[in-house]
Amino acid sequence: MNLFRTKSIEQSIADTDEPEYQLKKSLTALDLTVFGVGVVIGAGIFTLTGRVAHQMTGPAIVLSFIVAAVCCALAAMCYAEFASTVPVSGSAYTFSYASLGELFAWIIGWDLILEMFLGASVVAQGWSAYLGVLMEKLGLPIPSAIGYGGVIDLPAVLLIVALGVLITIGIKESMRVNLVLVGVKLFIVLFVIVAGIMFINPANYTPFIPEAAPSEAVGGFSWTQPLLQWVTGSAPMAFGWSGVFAGAALVFFAYIGFDVVATTAEEAKNPQKDLPVGIIASLSICTVLYCAVAVVVTGMVNYADIDPKAALASAFVYHGQTWMATLISAGAVAGLTTVVLTLMIGATRIIFAMSRDNLLPISIAKVHPKYRTPWKISIIVTAVCAVTAGVTPIGVLEEMVNIGTLTAFIMVSIAVVVLRKQRPDLPRAFKVPWSPVLPILSAIICFYLTLNLSIETWARFLIWLAIGIAIYFAYGYRNSRLVTGKPLPHDIEEAMAQGHVPRPDERP
Ligand code: ALA
Repeated sequence: MNLFRTKSIEQSIADTDEPEYQLKKSLTALDLTVFGVGVVIGAGIFTLTGRVAHQMTGPAIVLSFIVAAVCCALAAMCYAEFASTVPVSGSAYTFSYASLGELFAWIIGWDLILEMFLGASVVAQGWSAYLGVLMEKLGLPIPSAIGYGGVIDLPAVLLIVALGVLITIGIKESMRVNLVLVGVKLFIVLFVIVAGIMFINPANYTPFIPEAAPSEAVGGFSWTQPLLQWVTGSAPMAFGWSGVFAGAALVFFAYIGFDVVATTAEEAKNPQKDLPVGIIASLSICTVLYCAVAVVVTGMVNYADIDPKAALASAFVYHGQTWMATLISAGAVAGLTTVVLTLMIGATRIIFAMSRDNLLPISIAKVHPKYRTPWKISIIVTAVCAVTAGVTPIGVLEEMVNIGTLTAFIMVSIAVVVLRKQRPDLPRAFKVPWSPVLPILSAIICFYLTLNLSIETWARFLIWLAIGIAIYFAYGYRNSRLVTGKPLPHDIEEAMAQGHVPRPDERP
């Protein structure tokens, strides 16, 4: 037995042919792009923009968005190459199982669970915050004990439960809801850009990169200072160029999600072609929109006066346009819904892939007889997200989501190079140009961004990893199907009755 045993690509693809464990193949390139934009544009642009501009970067936040976009574009190409080579559910997890081996695959899967579970819960709370603002504007304030930041965040819980029902019923249905909400969200973002241009005051752009200033810290140390500053022995600082990079590590959150497109590979009609298109198109659209929003908002309000909580809506209030602010809050409520939905779908798919390999108990991976979704996993994901978003103050943990995602990106980038060496024979519909230079550069930039995250984030992340590794050795190491060689359990008669394998009268 060894920790670096790999699961061959052929084996991964064969597993997706097991009727009881098969998912519907119904998504097109356009569906995937909509899905990508649906999950990418969310709490990041609606809430983080204000906080980062106000506390770290000033108008230079647009540079942070560009740095984060470059990082994501490189990682996106690596994802696209993998998704076009290994079109099975599970995203980075499956890719690394095929190349770096089981232990790394487990760690990546564990990181992705962190990304999606925590991401869904964080954004659900952001949604609840915007709902609170909207209801107040409509004259129907939510009682503070059961609203955002209350004893229980009831709106966030209800949102997650409603979406949980949706994902249990089926992916195509979820996509339809997604399509409508993504349309609303795009409209609102474009509205902010177009309507906001009129209120830009060019004086707000100077200074463009505010001079670096010491941040509040006790004895030259602060849990919230970037790890890099601490390691290099420099004093905790905000703004300046180091602010731009620390800002990039934070606004990276706004781009998270294009990688989730890769988790739906098994449900794509033509994954080899459609996945790269879906991943790269959604990332490009979001980059352009984000930079435009960043320029407009920091032009509308001086960074020192930007509202760190709901910057987009508040910028319009600042200019006396309350109805525009109400419209934006309503749009944010619609927009954040799709983010939570997609992250929840992503979480179920990752756990599905991991349990199908029996790194988590295989019994939870069975597909629902009627809806053909991994329903047991959907229920677990819903319950855990609802509790997390409902009763914990996790709204501030975006950085944890970022570090989990960046680590997954690093491993995927390395895995591209490894798989090219190991399996040059595999057909690759999409290839990262200038490999291995770009994949290695991708890994380096992602790592650099993680160093710009805070010390407390690193500490929490290391604890999360330690728990994950303990679980692997307690369960997956021994039970992995790669070792036990057990076939996927299935009861043919039951599967026939469920319509997953053709009945005799349906055979061609
Ligand atoms: N990118 C997603 C958001 O900004 C996670 O909400």
